[in-house]
Amino acid sequence: MIDSRDRWYLSDDHGTGHRAGASILARRVRFPAEGRKHKKGAPVTHSPLPARRDPPPSIDTTRANAARIWNYWLGGKDNYPVDRLVGSQISAAMPEIVDAARAERGFLVRTVRHLVTDTGIYQFLDIGTGLPTANNTHEVAQASAPQCRIVYVNNDPLILAHARALLTSTPEGATDYVDADPRDPDKILPQAARALDFTQPIALMLLGTVEHVLDNNEAYALANRLMDALPSGSYLALCSLATEVRSEAINKVVHQWNKSVTPTIKARSRQELIRFFDRLELLEPGVVSASQWRPEAAEREAPVEVCKFSGVGRKL
Ligand SMILES: C[S@@+](CC[C@H](N)C(=O)[O-])C[C@H]1O[C@@H](n2cnc3c(N)ncnc32)[C@H](O)[C@@H]1O
Repeated sequence: MIDSRDRWYLSDDHGTGHRAGASILARRVRFPAEGRKHKKGAPVTHSPLPARRDPPPSIDTTRANAARIWNYWLGGKDNYPVDRLVGSQISAAMPEIVDAARAERGFLVRTVRHLVTDTGIYQFLDIGTGLPTANNTHEVAQASAPQCRIVYVNNDPLILAHARALLTSTPEGATDYVDADPRDPDKILPQAARALDFTQPIALMLLGTVEHVLDNNEAYALANRLMDALPSGSYLALCSLATEVRSEAINKVVHQWNKSVTPTIKARSRQELIRFFDRLELLEPGVVSASQWRPEAAEREAPVEVCKFSGVGRKL
C-alpha cells in the first residue's frame, strides 16, 4: 500500500516534457482508518498544471479524440483544432450534447459526495477518466473525507501527459494513475491494488466509458468482471449515452462521431443500461437522465432530461 507522501514521478516523461505519475514507490505505509468520517472542506493540495507544450508524437492531432472533445465541451483548453472542429459540428447538430457533458460531471459530483458522506465509501476506481478538469473525482471525494484513495485509469497519451494534475492528494489520502486500456481488467486490477485496499468497499466509476465498448455482451462482461473483484458493499456508478431522449438526433450524432472520432461510441436504451445493474441493488431513482439523478436543491428547478443516463448500484 502506498501513501501520497511517498509518491515519486518518473523522469521518463513519455516525450511530453511533463512528468507523469505512472510509477509509485512500492513501500508499505500506514492505511488510514476505515469508516472514520473526517471534517468537510479540508484543504486539497494542488500542483500547478504543467506548461503547455507541443503535443508529443504519440498524440494523433489529425483525428478527433473522445477525451479531448469532452474537454472542449466542458470548456477546457486541452484539445486541438480537429477536436474543436468535430466537437462544434456535433454540438451544432445537437446543442444539448454540451448540457449532457456538464450533466455527467454534475452526476459525478453528487454521486461521489453521496458515496463518501452517506455510505462511508473512501475508495474510488475511476476507469475511463477524462482530461483533468474542474471537480475531478479525488477533489470531490477528498473535500468530504481527506483519507479517500482514488485510482484513475486510461490509456490515452494526452491524459497520461496531464496525469500529474490528477495526482494531487491530501496528505491523508492517495491518488494513482494506471496507464491501461479501460477494457483490460487483468491489467487494471493488480495495478489498482497499489493504492486501493480490495478488502474494503470501493466505488467503481464508469462514466462515459461503457459507451465506447460497442458490443453489449463485452460491455456487461467488463462491468461484471470489475465488480466481481470488489468486496460486498462496493458500488457501481455508471453514466452512458442513451437513446431515450431525441433518439433520432442521437443516432445521427453517433453516426457522425463514429466517422470522425476515436474511440467509437454506442448509445443504449434505458433497459440496456439497467442490465449493468442486474447483479446489484439499484439505488433510487434507478437509471435516469444524469441531470435527474438526485439533483441538489439549486438544480431542481431545471432538471432537463439529457442524453446521458446514469445510475448507482450496490453490491450485496
Ligand atoms: C467521454 S470521456 C469520459 C470522461 C470522464 N469519465 C468523465 O466522466 O468526465 C471517455 C473516456 O473513455 C476513454 N476510453 C478510451 N478508449 C476506451 C475504450 N476502448 N473503452 C472505454 N473507454 C475508453 C477515453 O479515453 C475517454 O477518456
